[in-house]
Order: sequence, then C-alpha cells, then structure tokens
Amino acid sequence: MQNDENVMLLNELKEQLSSPDELFNVYEQYKELMTKYSCAIKEIRTKFEVLNEELQIKNKRNPIHAIYSRIKTIQSIRDKLNRKNLAFTFDNIQDEIHDVAGIRVICPFVDDIYEIADMILKQDDIKLINYKDYIRAPKSNGYRSYHMIIEIPVFFSEHKEYLKVEVQLRTIAMDFWASLEHEMRYKKDLTEEISQAISAQLLDCANTITEMDSKMQDIKNQIYPKYPVDPSTQ
Ligand code: GTP
Ligand code: MG
Repeated sequence: MQNDENVMLLNELKEQLSSPDELFNVYEQYKELMTKYSCAIKEIRTKFEVLNEELQIKNKRNPIHAIYSRIKTIQSIRDKLNRKNLAFTFDNIQDEIHDVAGIRVICPFVDDIYEIADMILKQDDIKLINYKDYIRAPKSNGYRSYHMIIEIPVFFSEHKEYLKVEVQLRTIAMDFWASLEHEMRYKKDLTEEISQAISAQLLDCANTITEMDSKMQDIKNQIYPKYPVDPSTQ
C-alpha cells in the first residue's frame, strides 16, 4: 500500500471511528486481510511456475512467457464498492470483490492458454468460481483474454482459508494490445469524434493481432507435435 493512500484511509476512518485504538485495530485488520491475499498470490504463482518448469523438461519449451501479479489498491477497492453501492467493509471486500488478488499469465501461443488453464483447474485444491472466455468471444472493443476467478486454500498457523484470485491468461500479442489500450483508454481530454475514431483503430489492431496469433499457432503446430506423448508411459 502506498503512503498517500494510507494517509487517505486513515483520515477517512478517523471521522467514522470513535477512538485511536479502534482506528489502529481496523488498520491492522486491513493489513492482515491484504497479507492473506498476497499469500494466495504466492500459492497460485508457484503452481504456474511448477507447471512451466515441468513442461520445459517434458516438451523442451515454456508454455508460460511471464507472470505478473498485483494486489488491488485501497483506492480501487473503495471505488469498486462505491460503484456497486456497497459499504466499505471487510465482509464486502471478501465477498463482493473478486479481484483483490490478481495474477496475469502470459503465454506464447493460444493453445498454451487452454492447456495451462485446464491443468490448473484439474488440481484438486483449486475451486473454479467462474470464467470468461474473451478469446472465443472477444469484447466488442476487441479485448481478448481468458479470465478465471478461482479459490485457493492458504494454510496459516492454525487454520486453512480459501481466498479468491482473478487469473487472466493471454498471449504475448493479446497482452501487447491490452496494455496499450488500457493506457490510452484513460486519456480523457479527447473529443467524442476522435475517441470513436481511436476505438475503431484499436479494434482494427485487435483484429490484426488475432490473425497474427492464429498464424503463429499454425507455425507452432508445424514445429511441435500437438500433444507430445512419452512412449514409455503408454
Ligand atoms: P472489473 O473490470 O474488474 O470491474 O470486473 P468485470 O466483472 O467487468 O470483469 P472482467 O472479467 O470483464 O474484467 C476484469 C479485468 O480484465 C479488468 O479489470 C481488466 O484488467 C481486464 N479487462 C477487461 N476488459 C478489458 C478491456 O476492454 N481492455 C483492457 N485493457 N483490459 C480489460
Ligand atoms: Mg479488475
């Protein structure tokens, strides 16, 4: 958590809470909750890293190119609860915000995404809460990625807790588009006309990228057998 956000939260809480002790307790409770989410990210990140290492040995290539993760800032948690007309409470954060912990897995090829998602979901400690396949059904602006909300158990000293994590799987090309689109979307000082023209151009780029992902997948299929089989295990 950044310092200015801490100060902002404290000032807001000061008005609601009756004593400094109460304020301190709430702050400690918030830190504890965010620490739990950051442990959940460690757990799921390790699962992806283990798969990547194993598949490197088995198939002589990495199905994962990069992994990024983040904990949602307090500002954006509060904004999201506001949008949903919900109070800023610990219960609402845990029950209503599914992306407090987020991990983004970048794969070289489209089929890597489905294989990795499938392998993670087959692990018997992972619960799938929901998924959105924006690859088979892209958003109207051209956005493509595979999203899952999962629950993962984290073992603490005296108890086990299931925590939600948002997993986004994308190809390198999808990530290139999404990162730049995200950056440009927040340029607010554009006229409606220019903004519409830019959306059309971004959609055009998204279509080019879809085509490129598909060509790259074709090339990969020529180089690597689709489902490498170890004859000794047959
Ligand atoms: P929020 O967008 O988090 O409020 O939740 P949602 O319920 O709409 O979930 P969805 O799965 O559609 O999107 C979750 C996340 O995916 C977003 O927070 C972004 O990180 C990413 N995302 C979704 N749509 C877009 C998009 O059009 N462009 C970009 N760059 N990212 C997107
Ligand atoms: Mg989000």
